[in-house]
Amino acid sequence: MNIAIDGPAGAGKSTIARKLAEELGYVYVDTGAMYRAMALFFLEQGIAASNEQEISAAASLIDLSIRYQDGEQQVLLNGENVNRKIRTEEVGNMASVTSVYPDVRRKLVALQQKLASDTDVIMDGRDIGTCVLPNAEVKIYLTASSATRAKRRYDELCAKGETCDLNEIRLDIEERDARDMNRETSPLKQAEDAVLVDSSDLTVEEVVETIRRICRKNHSI
Ligand code: DC
Repeated sequence: MNIAIDGPAGAGKSTIARKLAEELGYVYVDTGAMYRAMALFFLEQGIAASNEQEISAAASLIDLSIRYQDGEQQVLLNGENVNRKIRTEEVGNMASVTSVYPDVRRKLVALQQKLASDTDVIMDGRDIGTCVLPNAEVKIYLTASSATRAKRRYDELCAKGETCDLNEIRLDIEERDARDMNRETSPLKQAEDAVLVDSSDLTVEEVVETIRRICRKNHSI
């Protein structure tokens, strides 16, 4: 059984997918973390995001693998666990910019499909329902207004003691949405058979309950 959750940055995909995976005993696969790990490598190597040839060459050399530790996905980049290093805005933006390249996507899609063929997964990302797992039993398109997503991100950063500007975060999110939705290869969009869930006015528990109901109704999961 595979559950695909797609949607824009900050819609709550990872929080929801993690909770559901725990409840159902599925493996949670965070595909954004894989694009981030690749992006970290390009940044560390000083490769310009605009240089497709160098990015493609580097992508073919990268050894990327996934391991699970206490139920949490760990991304290994050339043998190094980079989970902590990939959670910065810089890496997120680089991931969004470099994920447009077909060679980057091909490599990661193959890894994602392999993971899903081995076990029951809940996988989140941008192209899971449309491209990675077109036959997933349940497909969710989880979204929220950019204002809501920006406020959530702002609260998260404030809680960590970081100073930030709400308007800047919102503009950044909108720029990322535009890039992810308008790229040529596997753009972010709702799959025809995906169910739309708007989390703008819902609590985490309400979103989980909504998706639980969709799973039960469609596939007795
Ligand atoms: O979900 P995230 O913020 O960790 O993802 C970072 C970027 O990676 C996102 O802006 C676009 C890219 N991405 C993608 O192209 N396809 C996916 N399945 C997951 C992420």
